[in-house]
Amino acid sequence: MLIFLLGFMGCGKSYTARKLSEKLDIPVMDMDKDIEEQEGRSVSRIFSESGEAYFRNLESDWLRSLDPESDAIISTGGGSPCFGDNMDVMKALGITIFLDTERERIIQRLAYGRNRRPLLEGMNELDIGFFYDEKMKERRPFYERSDFHLYHQDINVLANLILSFKRPD
Ligand code: S3P
Repeated sequence: MLIFLLGFMGCGKSYTARKLSEKLDIPVMDMDKDIEEQEGRSVSRIFSESGEAYFRNLESDWLRSLDPESDAIISTGGGSPCFGDNMDVMKALGITIFLDTERERIIQRLAYGRNRRPLLEGMNELDIGFFYDEKMKERRPFYERSDFHLYHQDINVLANLILSFKRPD
């Protein structure tokens, strides 16, 4: 079964996916990391050398290459559910879970890790706050189409949720 973790940059998708993977012994996949490996360059370089539209196509192609029969917890790129019919594709392939982390926590994390994120280039914490408010308005309706909407990422709660719909081996 494929389990997609969705949400804004900095909401904790990668960390949560790794922890769940360890706990449940289900392989973890990271969309951005896979795309970086495929392309042999970082997401920042893909954006600056080939543009955002090119990156969004890579995301769509990556999703379409997944095997729905396989087992994985997938940390998705924050923008991926909001382009083309990616949300429909994810919903058709597996279970979608929206990690709805508090605004302040996200902004703090993003201010700390902005170098890795091309969309935040040159922004200070205040800019990031405005950016978050704007983007989240646009993106929330997509995220909210997820099968589950979680406000607290208690790993045990999430693990039990996943076990409740996992087919016995
Ligand atoms: C993006 C989020 C990033 C990455 C790219 C664009 C976005 O992933 O895919 O920088 O549009 O929100 P994370 O959510 O893992 O930071």
